[in-house]
Order: sequence, then C-alpha cells, then structure tokens
Amino acid sequence: MKEGGFKGRDIISIRDFSKSELLYVLKIAKQIEKNPNPNLLKEKILSTLFFEPSTRTRLSFTAAMERLGGQVMGFATPGVSSVKKGETLWDTIKMVEQYADVIAMRHPIEGSARLAAEAASIPIINCGDGSNQHPTQTLVDLYTIQKTKGKLDGLKVGMLGDLKYGRTVHSLAIALSHFSTTFYFISPEALKMPKEYIDELKEKKIKYEEVVELKKVSKELDVLYVTRVQKERFPDPVEYEKYKDFYKLDKSLLPFIKKDLKIMHPLPRVGEISPELDETPHAVYFEQAGNGIPVREALLALVLGKIK
Ligand code: CP
Repeated sequence: MKEGGFKGRDIISIRDFSKSELLYVLKIAKQIEKNPNPNLLKEKILSTLFFEPSTRTRLSFTAAMERLGGQVMGFATPGVSSVKKGETLWDTIKMVEQYADVIAMRHPIEGSARLAAEAASIPIINCGDGSNQHPTQTLVDLYTIQKTKGKLDGLKVGMLGDLKYGRTVHSLAIALSHFSTTFYFISPEALKMPKEYIDELKEKKIKYEEVVELKKVSKELDVLYVTRVQKERFPDPVEYEKYKDFYKLDKSLLPFIKKDLKIMHPLPRVGEISPELDETPHAVYFEQAGNGIPVREALLALVLGKIK
C-alpha cells in the first residue's frame, strides 16, 4: 500500500482489506449508485491492461470510469501491445504510468499484480492474477450478497465447481471469513479448495464442510456460488475433460433448495447452470455482473482520492 486510507492505494489482494474497509467500499458503492456524479473523475485516465480475456471486469471498469466522467485507454489482448515485441511487464507498467492515473490489470501469472505495483507510482488494481486473487470481483460479490440477502453476517454459503483454480472463490472465502460465514465447499476431489485457504479458515475457527455431492448440503444454503471449471489453468487437457461437466444445475434442483437461496456465478458459464434457472428468483448472476459498475466506480473514486 502506498499510503494510509485509499488514496494512491494498490488493490492487489482481498487480504489487504480489513472488515471495516470492505464495508466502507460497499457503502461508497451504494452511495454512488444512488447519487451518480458524472463529473467526479473528469480529466482522469484509467488504463486497462488485459493479458487474458475478460467481459465483465474490463467492460464494467470501462463503464465505471466513463460514467464518472473519466477516460479509458488500454488493450484487451497483449497481442496488440509492445509485449508482443518482447517488452517486460515491468517496462510496460513504467510506460503506461506516463499516460494514465490508474491501471486495472489482468495477467495469467500469480504475483504479477504485486510486481506491477512495485513498478508503478500510480495505483494498480488487480483484475485477476492467475489462480491467485480477484479482489474487485470479491467486492462485487459482497455487494451482491448484501443487496440480495439484506446482510453479510451469519450466512451459509456454498461454493461449487473448480475451487482449486478459481481465483474468485479464493478471494471471496477470505473476505467472507470476516462475517461468521459457514462454508460448504462442493467440488470433485481433484478440484478441492487449496490447503492454504482451508488452513486459514481452520486457524480463524470458521465452520466449513467439504463435499462432492451438491444435494448433500443444498437445503442448508443461503447462497450458492457457482464457478466454471477453468480450462485454461489445467496443465493436462485430459484432466479438464474429466471434470468439465461434473456439475449441471437445472430445475431438478429446485425441490432441494431453500425458497430464498440466491445462485451467483462470477464467470462466463459454460454449462454449469442451465438457462432454465435464469427466470427463477434464485438467479442473481446477471444482477451480480451489473453490480460491477457501482463497486468499481467506488474503487476508482477512492484510489484516485476523489472520495475520502
Ligand atoms: N468475473 C470475471 O472475471 O469475469 P470476466 O472474465 O468476464 O471478466
């Protein structure tokens, strides 16, 4: 972190946030959503550097910056940048900081966001570094849970799918551990939550259960957070083929869930949730993507020092 408060601060890992800081960002997001200010970031420039594909994160950052009166430049694929000619990440950041006030970056290598923050004198916002962290998605997820469940404390949250490689589940589990959550980690044996996250929950005395079958725990859940099996992270494509269709949620699940269960999905779905669930009151994944705008507006305004 570059200094106290949010001004000038890098957003690299959800571990860098205290509970009160998480709640503060959500509060600012709510305020901005209620009272939009189209001039708040006038004359500020966001650079979006995406070394991996994205729809939600890159476009909602773009929409957030533009709705606050700022401008956006960058690339959606490294193939159109000087990275293609061999420029290092360090040098790319040193170049881009000459043109922008803040950088939102996604990169396939774990730890790349931290490296970029060391290189930069302007705030770096981690939009996903390999399987590691996706802190802005976590803030979007918390905002969505708070809005749709009316609270964050004391919920029973199921996380389903690829818990091994899923950076959004890693970040969200850490954040929810501040809120007396009971976790149900639902995955095939080979895609379990990594030991370091389980150890962290144990140390904090957080309740959790690990299961393979969703229906064993589905009646308990207040929130079901579904993730895609991350093809791009599998070292062996044969392994991916084994697990890609492991979970397929459809209307046959409805008798086995609470009436007010909310189903979230932070990522592009590739078959884990049937579209027949979209029209049910359980599905909040489109609303979740929309919440990316107020939350990222809040983060941009905070790190650029326009809101204290
Ligand atoms: N949530 C998320 O990372 O989605 P995108 O890959 O579409 O940005």
